[in-house]
Amino acid sequence: MHQDLKKILISEEEIQAAAKRIAAQIDADYKGESIVFVGLLKGSVQFMADLLKHVESMCTIDFMCVSSYGGGTKSTGRVNIIKDLSEPIDDKNVIIVEDIIDSGHTLSFITKYFAAKNARSVRICTLLNKPSRREVEIDVDYIGFEVPDEFVVGYGLDFREYYRNLPYIGVLKPEIYG
Ligand code: IMP
Ligand code: MG
Repeated sequence: MHQDLKKILISEEEIQAAAKRIAAQIDADYKGESIVFVGLLKGSVQFMADLLKHVESMCTIDFMCVSSYGGGTKSTGRVNIIKDLSEPIDDKNVIIVEDIIDSGHTLSFITKYFAAKNARSVRICTLLNKPSRREVEIDVDYIGFEVPDEFVVGYGLDFREYYRNLPYIGVLKPEIYG
């Protein structure tokens, strides 16, 4: 375990099993229709890669980068587009792939944005869900794990851009972010 962590919350094996389970659910739901997976940078990168290895549906991928955090551990509620989609999504079935849903501001903004771009359907797939922190209501279609109200890092998730490389999800020691 990394020295800055208090504990490992979700192991590599548990994450891989969740990626397989969600990919099978998606294939069953879309029944041969093609899908555009939109990963939200940078946190979704590890999950997106592992999830896609198990998806059998015809699909393309794209990425968006938005920010709602000013480098700290609390959402500001404002969302800025840093990198937009590279292909049009009108009349496409879109699945947004996210690392964690916390306040819900990021996903609420993006689902509205995609609807305005005339996507045929928009669903949300997240590795982690922190329902206790929700400030805006959103429908989440695919969830890896529900997590408690603790700041987590690893497997794409960062604190000040670090720890994204860890193959598992862990909880930081309070003295690291305190
Ligand atoms: P929301 O708009 O508050 O739902 O924020 C979602 C974004 O906040 C995620 O994509 C993460 O980048 C970040 N975030 C929220 N909670 C955590 C956490 O516990 N660890 C690391 N990043 C987090
Ligand atoms: Mg982040």
